[in-house]
Amino acid sequence: MEIKIERTKNPKTRPSDESKLGFGNYYTDHMFIMNYDEGQGWHDPRIVPYAPVELDPAAMCLHYGQEVFEGLKAYRCEDGEVRLFRPDKNMARLNLSNDRLCIPPIDEEFAVEAIKTLVKVDEDWIPSAEGTSLYIRPFIFAIDAHIGVHPAKHLLFMIILSPVGAYYPEGLNPVKIYVETNYVRAVKGGMGFTKTGGNYAASLKAQDEAEKVGYTQVLWLDGVERKYVEEVGTMNVFFVLDGEVVTPALQGSILGGITRMSCIEILKSWGLNVSERRISIDELSKAYDEGRLLEAFGSGTAAVISPIGELRWGDKVMEINNGEIGELSQKLYDTLTGIQWGKIEGPEGWSVKI
Ligand code: COI
Repeated sequence: MEIKIERTKNPKTRPSDESKLGFGNYYTDHMFIMNYDEGQGWHDPRIVPYAPVELDPAAMCLHYGQEVFEGLKAYRCEDGEVRLFRPDKNMARLNLSNDRLCIPPIDEEFAVEAIKTLVKVDEDWIPSAEGTSLYIRPFIFAIDAHIGVHPAKHLLFMIILSPVGAYYPEGLNPVKIYVETNYVRAVKGGMGFTKTGGNYAASLKAQDEAEKVGYTQVLWLDGVERKYVEEVGTMNVFFVLDGEVVTPALQGSILGGITRMSCIEILKSWGLNVSERRISIDELSKAYDEGRLLEAFGSGTAAVISPIGELRWGDKVMEINNGEIGELSQKLYDTLTGIQWGKIEGPEGWSVKI
């Protein structure tokens, strides 16, 4: 399929101070859009000037949340190249989410091409300051004007781009995390493993309450026993115990992060003992008391590696590594970002030139 390109006649003024981009505050001049209509499949891919989308007030995405999304980044590298990080994995995950939400699959290779083409059109928007990148947000949503509950027959696949800095204002400084014991995010059999808005909507209340008491994000426990650690707000989570790096196993309610997958592969390549298993909050608390909880960090596309300096579980406050970034977290951050910015040669297929 050929992607038609209509360039804007009114380019926006780009943010002048790259150190103040924040996350998700600016959008580029163009966007990708493609329609799905039953009987016709996905068709009419095009890049057009960035603009609001007109929707019927009865559009199903607004009522029943049939939507999925992805997040990845383009990096402006010192050698002048622009690179993406494992975009094939994002598009594979998009189809996993699509399947769960009864959204017709997209052609993964074509979607990577669409991303590359859009990034090339808006290449001037890719920031170059340390720690900045161009966040890429592909998303699909149901547009049928119909108030009955059923899978959509008409959808849009769009991609927008946003020049960004660090996701957390803390940057690489450790964040404080609140262990959530009241609300749950997802349960096995639900949609927890997908990237769909509903999972994030389910997280807002807990996030809001945690922020009010001075915490950056919450650590979710499993929705059944309220015992096993699942993930942190917008990240997967890792714990460095004495002799073992543990991350919760993917069992249906946890998002399979591309950064998570990459961290596991990097840590294993260093010969570390990495376990994907169930880990309870009691086990963590005991490890903390025994001085065996050495580091904790979150991983995600937006947040990259975010060290956890404090975990609060009820009345218990666990300060990890004196509230400072740990040696392993720092090494992992340096390696991962080194590969993403093309400074370190990563495994085959991780760093994709545009
Ligand atoms: C990402 O890390 O790309 C995410 O999608 C998290 C986000 C909700 C900002």
